[in-house]
Amino acid sequence: MTVRHFLTLKDLSPAELQQIIARAIEMKAQHRNGTADEPFHGKVLGMIFEKSSTRTRVSFEAGMAQMGGSALFLSPRDTQLGRGEPIEDSARVLSRMVDIIMIRTFGHDKIERFAAYSRVPVINALTDDFHPCQLLADIQTYVEHRGDPKGKTVAWIGDGNNMCHSYINAAAMCDFKLNIACPEGFDPDPELVAANADRVTITRDPREAVTGADWVVTDVWASMGQEEEQAHREQQFAGYEVNHELMALAHDDAIFMHCLPAHRGEEVSADLLEDEKISVVWDEAENRLHAQKALMEFLLQHN
Ligand code: CP
Ligand code: NVA
Repeated sequence: MTVRHFLTLKDLSPAELQQIIARAIEMKAQHRNGTADEPFHGKVLGMIFEKSSTRTRVSFEAGMAQMGGSALFLSPRDTQLGRGEPIEDSARVLSRMVDIIMIRTFGHDKIERFAAYSRVPVINALTDDFHPCQLLADIQTYVEHRGDPKGKTVAWIGDGNNMCHSYINAAAMCDFKLNIACPEGFDPDPELVAANADRVTITRDPREAVTGADWVVTDVWASMGQEEEQAHREQQFAGYEVNHELMALAHDDAIFMHCLPAHRGEEVSADLLEDEKISVVWDEAENRLHAQKALMEFLLQHN
């Protein structure tokens, strides 16, 4: 049997994505009112982190514990992965010992190779190319605050990075329009853009992208692994800060999201980030917990 993984949003059908979001909302309510059960008793999640994390680590680890299972934090600093043991060997060994695996790494090819050799579901917890778990939380947050994103307009302001790529996939799966504003030289993957040309547009003008938007989102200008480019990127992205002035061009009930961590005064103003009438970033962060519990339940049920 082929194992079902979650390496990008496209590993789900649109209907399955909707089902996971609905289940995440249900699990959040059950968690809050104390009626959640523990279906993962005896299940173990392996968590491989080759990059830093606060939200992803804590949401997966806490989520697994809340569902009656346990999680192992595996860092390359103290596993043989960091000493050059082949990814294919690590995948075969680890997947004979644990029930589900999440990986945060650099090259997307690495997680694809790992998944190809894994007997158990593999979840992409961020690669240089995609961050699909964050999109589960973001979609859940939009649905909770404003309902179905179908037919809405989303504005992505900033780098054409892993988060931007996952928003392009989300646009196709949730049927929304995506206006991307990024400086020249920081475009998202042209093939991904071309494949979604019916709903994705690219502009150099953040004002144009935000005009009439229902949902505005940004991310850091220098992602993990690009720390040395920080100063250069700050220059290139000047004028791309999302702030109240920019948000004023969006629809009156538009909301703002950011996967966090945020750099106040760079991609987002401190005032906007803290303005809870518009900014839903804390709900968005919390929803990582609920959305990933629903995802893990789905993958364990479908494998
Ligand atoms: N948004 C997100 O993935 O945060 P962490 O890097 O803290 O996991
Ligand atoms: N684009 C960012 C997202 C962090 C959650 C990065 O890759 O560092």
